[in-house]
Amino acid sequence: MSNKDKSGDKPWSGRFNEPVTDLVKKFTASVTFDQRLAEFDIDGSLAHARMLQAVGILAQADLEAIEKGLAQIREEIRGGTFTWSLDLEDVHLNIERRLTDLAGDAGKRLHTARSRNDQVATDVRLYLRASIDHVLTLTKSLQRALLDLAEKHTETVMPGFTHLQVAQPVSFAHHLMAYFEMLSRDAQRFAECRKRVNKLPLGAAALAGTSFPIDRQMVAKELGFDGLCENSLDAVSDRDFAIEFCAHAALQMTHLSRFCEELILWMNPRFNFIDIADRFCTGSSIMPQKKNPDVAELIRGKTGRVNGHLVALLTLMKAQPLAYNKDNQEDKEPLFDTVDTLMMSLAVFTEMLDGINVNKEAMRTAALQGYATATDLADYLVKKGVPFREAHEAVAQAVRYAEERGCDLADLKLEDLKRFSPLIAKDVFEALTLEGSMNSRSHIGGTAPARVKTAIAKARKSL
Ligand code: ARG
Repeated sequence: MSNKDKSGDKPWSGRFNEPVTDLVKKFTASVTFDQRLAEFDIDGSLAHARMLQAVGILAQADLEAIEKGLAQIREEIRGGTFTWSLDLEDVHLNIERRLTDLAGDAGKRLHTARSRNDQVATDVRLYLRASIDHVLTLTKSLQRALLDLAEKHTETVMPGFTHLQVAQPVSFAHHLMAYFEMLSRDAQRFAECRKRVNKLPLGAAALAGTSFPIDRQMVAKELGFDGLCENSLDAVSDRDFAIEFCAHAALQMTHLSRFCEELILWMNPRFNFIDIADRFCTGSSIMPQKKNPDVAELIRGKTGRVNGHLVALLTLMKAQPLAYNKDNQEDKEPLFDTVDTLMMSLAVFTEMLDGINVNKEAMRTAALQGYATATDLADYLVKKGVPFREAHEAVAQAVRYAEERGCDLADLKLEDLKRFSPLIAKDVFEALTLEGSMNSRSHIGGTAPARVKTAIAKARKSL
């Protein structure tokens, strides 16, 4: 029995006396989940092989055999006929073995000047680059849906809240546009992160580089990387680019979650501000009257798992000595699930926005009930020369007076209002209306409908 037969049929088993146990095989394999890197692995291998040929390490005939073999493997994977084997550990060894079956010695030459360590780092970066582009597209779609809704509601008044208590009247479109801003920053963060993701690790080999005269620039160009990882040890070991992505994803999910929380509140009959179309809600198996905003609740819930993935990756990295450690195999599932969860959440949110019906009357009634224009009365007095703190006190008294009578400030008679300041005149009622209040906040960033329209137009252009 040769050594190889004793130790199992792995590309690295030459130095071993016995194969791994079945449990260890299962425990150490990643092929069940890193299969998803397959096409990126093929792209990387093609670029590597072409470079090896260009610098004279690989014969033209071998390159052709490799190209042909990898093309067939790609077809097999796409067609679902490729046989994945747990014995071959991971996506890289599975593809390499199949290539050797198809291309013979040429397949065996592919791994010259390369290690799985720089290979996997390259694959993950290619995967993440594509994922970021997808996330950016989905974010834009969501932003467009937001603008579509906002455009219809620049004049719709709702109570703006602080501490979830009625604060001041705002345009519903203005409220929606707050989320547009958050999403714009999310997109900026992903675009920034993409620059750091888009660097080529290949050439680092196992950790120290390679003794072959490789051309890393050529590989980078072929794979669309903007530059090279400049230190071989760093190239194979750090996953900060994935952590960074997960941090940005957690933040974007947090934004979506806040929005969902509001939709859920607004759909509650106590608010009754909106209705979410039935196709985004589910019922209860026991309470026939129920209509639950499950989609919004699930996005809010999934934010927790994305936050968890971020912590998992940070924890994975924190005590690793340089350079590559098998720990890093654990980067994939959290990263993949983060990408999947974020993409699904963005897509379903975009659809759901289209199914939101706004109850303008309920919003207006709520704005009228909470003394939302009290600040406007204070500002009115200040404009007549009263110091702000004094005006604040006078209005507080007026609110208390109205509260005792169960009415709004605007419902009080002029004589009643005058008790709180002799400077109050007939023109006060303009300041006390919801529209008057909104229209007066017409500076950049304010809620005046005319200003919000400008903001929407600007936002449209930015997309
Ligand atoms: N499946 C491995 C991973 O995901 C590939 C790299 C393996 N490298 C090694 N030296 N065992 O990290």
